[in-house]
Amino acid sequence: SDAVTFFGRTQAGIVTPAQDRLHFVAFDVLTSDRARLVQLLKDWSAAAARMTAGKDAGEIGATAGILEAPPDDTGEAIGLPASGLTITVGFGPTLFRDATGKDRFGLAARKPAALADLPRFPGDTIDPAISGGDICVQACANDPQVAVHAIRNLARIGMGVVSVRWSQLGFGRTSSTSTAQATPRNLFGFKDGTANLKAEETDLLDQHLWVRAGDGPEWMTGGSYMVTRKIRMLIETWDRSPLGDQENIVGRTKGEGAPIGQSREFDEPDLTSTSIPTDAHVRLAHPTVNNGARLLRRGYNFVDGSDGLGRLNAGLFFIAYQRDPRTHFVPIQLNLARHDAMNEYLRHVSSGLFACPPGVSGPDDYWGRALF
Ligand code: HEM
Repeated sequence: SDAVTFFGRTQAGIVTPAQDRLHFVAFDVLTSDRARLVQLLKDWSAAAARMTAGKDAGEIGATAGILEAPPDDTGEAIGLPASGLTITVGFGPTLFRDATGKDRFGLAARKPAALADLPRFPGDTIDPAISGGDICVQACANDPQVAVHAIRNLARIGMGVVSVRWSQLGFGRTSSTSTAQATPRNLFGFKDGTANLKAEETDLLDQHLWVRAGDGPEWMTGGSYMVTRKIRMLIETWDRSPLGDQENIVGRTKGEGAPIGQSREFDEPDLTSTSIPTDAHVRLAHPTVNNGARLLRRGYNFVDGSDGLGRLNAGLFFIAYQRDPRTHFVPIQLNLARHDAMNEYLRHVSSGLFACPPGVSGPDDYWGRALF
């Protein structure tokens, strides 16, 4: 079957081979009642276990209930297979202490140091209305209707407890997270995900992806930190730049995706060679210039209609997982924000940071149980 197992030591949707579609949502918690929040996480875990198995969100289903009550599933996924659906949850810094400094749920003492707010990066044009959030849910599937159905039903179940702060649809994965996958292309037309962390590289995943015992509060062991950045790509300007310039900006060839000066996609970039410019993206993002840091990138293309100025509102919804953003995303992005030739074509418009707890072990467990 095409169902991805929901229960496990780690959450699905991180090293799971990246599916083609994304529906991402960030919620704010409306209540300050800890018991209601915990009940929601239990209800969500049960619904997620069902939906990822290709079933209705509730036990009765979309059409079998009494006529006097709203159904416990919304119905648009009837007849559709599980489609590789994964649902991954993360907790934002504001769940532990809100913007006014209030510790609504008595969680402040359990906030990981790694969940420190991201700094403002040079050139940032972040819109707070589409950034942050108390809880995020990443739904990935190979059918967009299945991903939307999952988010919609979780929002429905959460009515009165959480409200949607912002959301994002994505199509076309921009990374591979398994060596079994072919490398896809982003909206600049370049292969994206070549040098990504892959599911098969288990030693590297232990080193760079999964939070280990002793890293911080015990409830995050087996979890991972997620950074999201909605990055508008000025594709019309890009499309008017010569092929050679495009390749120099990325540091790889457009066809094969090989490092400039080499011939095959998976050849290791030779950073001692001057053929890769000093301001090329892959040089500045490379582990050798970032203290060895590696990310698991899991982003998606987006086109949110047009911008009213004759341009497509298009770009990359960047998602990266790591063991600690302070040693991984932050230094890499600082390096890119300062020096990357690609910046001329990019605008970072939204930012998010979430602590994704370990996996839900079985039907009696729920997302974040060790936190509460
Ligand atoms: C590599 C595109 C944003 C981190 C690459 C590659 C491309 C690319 C085409 C080469 C293929 C590959 O190895 O995957 C883009 C575009 C971006 C963007 C179009 C924005 C819209 C970012 C951001 C970060 C990042 C924000 C992290 C802060 C990396 C890393 C690599 C990489 C770590 C691998 C470098 C290596 O080890 O060779 N990116 N990227 N990228 N990118 Fe980006």
